[in-house]
Amino acid sequence: MRTEQALPVRLADYRPPDWLVETIELDVSLDPKATRVRAALQIKPNPKAEAPAPLMLDGDGLTLVALKLDGEPLAAGQYAATPDSLTIAQPPQKPFRLEIETVVDPSANTRLMGLYRSGATYCTQCEAEGFRRITFFPDRPDVMAVYTTRIEADQADAPVLLANGNLVASGEVPGSGRHFAVWHDPFPKPSYLFALVGGKLGFVEDRFRTRSGREVVLRIYVEPGKEDRCFYAMDALKRAMRWDEEAFGREYDLDIFMIVAVSDFNMGAMENKGLNVFNDKYVLASPATATDADFAHIEAIVAHEYFHNWTGNRITCRDWFQLCLKEGLTVFRDQEFSADQRSRPVERISDVRGLRAHQFVEDAGPLAHPVRPALYHEINNFYTATVYEKGAEVVRMLEVLLGPENFRKGMDLYFARHDGEAATVDEFVRCFADAAGADLAQFMLWYSQAGTPEVVAVGSYDAGAKVYRLDLAQTIPPTPGQPAKEPMVIPLGLGLVGRDGRDLPLRVADGRKIEHGVLALTKPAETFVFTDIGEAPVPSLNRGFSAPIKLVANLTADQLTFLAARDPDPFNRWQAVQTLATRLLVDNVAALRSGAAPRRDPGLLDALGAILADGTLEPAFVALALTLPGEADIAREIGRDIDPDAIFSARAALRAAVGEHLAAEFAERYRRLTDTRPYRPDAENAGRRALRNVCLDLLVAARRPNAIALAAGQYQSADNMTDRMAALSTLSLCGVPERAAALDDFYARYGDDPLIVDKWLGLQASIPESATLDRVKALTAHPAFSMANPNRVRALIGTFAMANQTQFNRADGGGYDFIVECVRALDPKNPQVAARLIAALKSWRVLEPTRRALAEAALRRVAGEASLSRDTGDIVQRALAES
Ligand code: PHE
Ligand code: ZN
Repeated sequence: MRTEQALPVRLADYRPPDWLVETIELDVSLDPKATRVRAALQIKPNPKAEAPAPLMLDGDGLTLVALKLDGEPLAAGQYAATPDSLTIAQPPQKPFRLEIETVVDPSANTRLMGLYRSGATYCTQCEAEGFRRITFFPDRPDVMAVYTTRIEADQADAPVLLANGNLVASGEVPGSGRHFAVWHDPFPKPSYLFALVGGKLGFVEDRFRTRSGREVVLRIYVEPGKEDRCFYAMDALKRAMRWDEEAFGREYDLDIFMIVAVSDFNMGAMENKGLNVFNDKYVLASPATATDADFAHIEAIVAHEYFHNWTGNRITCRDWFQLCLKEGLTVFRDQEFSADQRSRPVERISDVRGLRAHQFVEDAGPLAHPVRPALYHEINNFYTATVYEKGAEVVRMLEVLLGPENFRKGMDLYFARHDGEAATVDEFVRCFADAAGADLAQFMLWYSQAGTPEVVAVGSYDAGAKVYRLDLAQTIPPTPGQPAKEPMVIPLGLGLVGRDGRDLPLRVADGRKIEHGVLALTKPAETFVFTDIGEAPVPSLNRGFSAPIKLVANLTADQLTFLAARDPDPFNRWQAVQTLATRLLVDNVAALRSGAAPRRDPGLLDALGAILADGTLEPAFVALALTLPGEADIAREIGRDIDPDAIFSARAALRAAVGEHLAAEFAERYRRLTDTRPYRPDAENAGRRALRNVCLDLLVAARRPNAIALAAGQYQSADNMTDRMAALSTLSLCGVPERAAALDDFYARYGDDPLIVDKWLGLQASIPESATLDRVKALTAHPAFSMANPNRVRALIGTFAMANQTQFNRADGGGYDFIVECVRALDPKNPQVAARLIAALKSWRVLEPTRRALAEAALRRVAGEASLSRDTGDIVQRALAES
């Protein structure tokens, strides 16, 4: 185990910067191995800091070439430069100009932070701390400067030169074969939002007229030849721009908005001011190459990055502890956008599924942390489901508690009060408290307390008194560093559903109010008594998933079946089916492990049949309702002593039972949903395809005669990637000759298209069979695979570790060993991606004893590595820590 641990960064230690940077002029001369960076900083003392202070600039692996202060070279004794810092002990205590020259090697940059090359393209990634890999700078988000960027490059190698802001000059450098472009961004911004791009790129162009009448040029830059795959992203961008004007009153502010798609990118995309850089996976799409899910992701991520222009860029974060200020809020905004563009209930169900699959698991394990952490060793490890998705839930709860009008007032106040600033979460919440006249002190616990609250709800009806009594109790489990918790304010959307499926009017006995259909639980335990309730109702709780909690309610199977059929809240209709299925699956996993007979649940099968037959429901919703809880969902519910094989078997048996029970209906619906019109990616058509493909999948799960042939036929005849991939993934679950044939055919068709090859890699990595580990190992040597490309790594190795429960968790430990080897190989090259990979082992403590010991040993092997990156070191230390 490594002993020397760098000191953590603590929120409590925040101090304003001693020095501010008003402007920075960058002059970057691009070269594959030696890019020269000249930076001229106009620096001044921060009036808010205690003077006099030394000037300390951040660096990361930099080589200083020259340094001047107010035009004069500094003598050796006047400064200290290391690769990681530049210090001037006694700078003038007044404004001055500092000129710094560094040289960086973009071709050797395998971490993909700072200036690097993706193929032949030069690009940058600066969030969170990548700017310091380009030049020495106070690389912290509360230092906001106005940037002017001159880029120079070989005209033939890099005909396109882009940076933040508006283009102010360009031209040739006579006689050198080189050219230049100068970009100016008038909006002060933190260094993490800086970007430049240079390369041979094609583009598509469009225009957007803002509601105040300004004309904005929109461009999406891609590898030449891929321009025809940008149209959906462009369409999504224009819809996002319009929506932000309508929903939040936010307009775009520069003359041009650019997106650049690159093939090598650690994350999804990056909101650099005026110059978003995207993982090309979230830009490129055509019916033949992208699935409906890909289209939906592109729409959401294009919108997300665009929305950051106000929530993140114009108002940025004071420090990285406030990361959820931009990310949680912006995820909330992109979820609302998708809900408005598509189907609100379907969007909500998908978002909650994602939250439970990722954030609930994180919150229940050793990496649990508050939405606003108080301490970190490596900020890169805090781009998490908790900061993003739970952060979005916290913003949503503000809306649920205060109501849409007060929520909008609070947002307006936030934009008015903090535009141009680096703000904090406290300042954000204060805007809502001020706008709504609400006390949000207790609400702040959502930002500081980690762990998923559990609410136990017990309802009882007194027919004589016509009273319905609801007893609620909350507990918040201990998490690392937080053994004991305060009670939180939990907004519970509530309905009491009568026999006829309508909500009964709600009157609380003691006069407490139910506002916006929401009851706020604020104490450890509370009782609500509803009067004038003329019949025994069925309670529908946490409607729309109003709070990110685990709800345990004493509902009978009959009550759940009733809600599945009749709840006016579509989310809880879906939830009722999930709860029924989860209860059955948990029971059957236990039965399997003890050699007892599994339980059958005709009620669940009938509930599914009723939903399938309900013509009023949209197909996308039906598809979600028919999708049984995943293996990871079941494991999360069981919570301890997990045996992934038993979970797999119980789930497979239930899928087969559903397929068998509803075989005729599935076959019929499959046929009726067959569509011969040309593919369109909109939500309604996607929903029909989703339902049709669920029908196919369950027919195959039940091994119905001809089902394999049906799937193989759909694979062959599909005219779009959604249906082709759906057929292939259905086939991939069966060890039939048709599978091998289809997989070979798929590679033959798409082998030269990396994004489609990723689908092929991922599919093979998720096959739940013991041969998969060897197959995945073999694929790491396939010419289409590369450890240097994050998308390839995530598709093959990431999918294996995160989405293949039985094979990653093989009882012989081979899955863990493989991941350890991959992390060892990757960590020196790209620590961020390596750290995310090793985090797949974070839930080791909930496994049954044999696997648990193997997983722990695997983590300890990584922890014992001699030179581990801070990223990976931080994850394994926390994963192993006794909390
Ligand atoms: N800020 C990016 C987003 O919009 C994510 C990101 C973080 C990208 C760090 C790159 C590096 O969510
Ligand atoms: Zn974001």
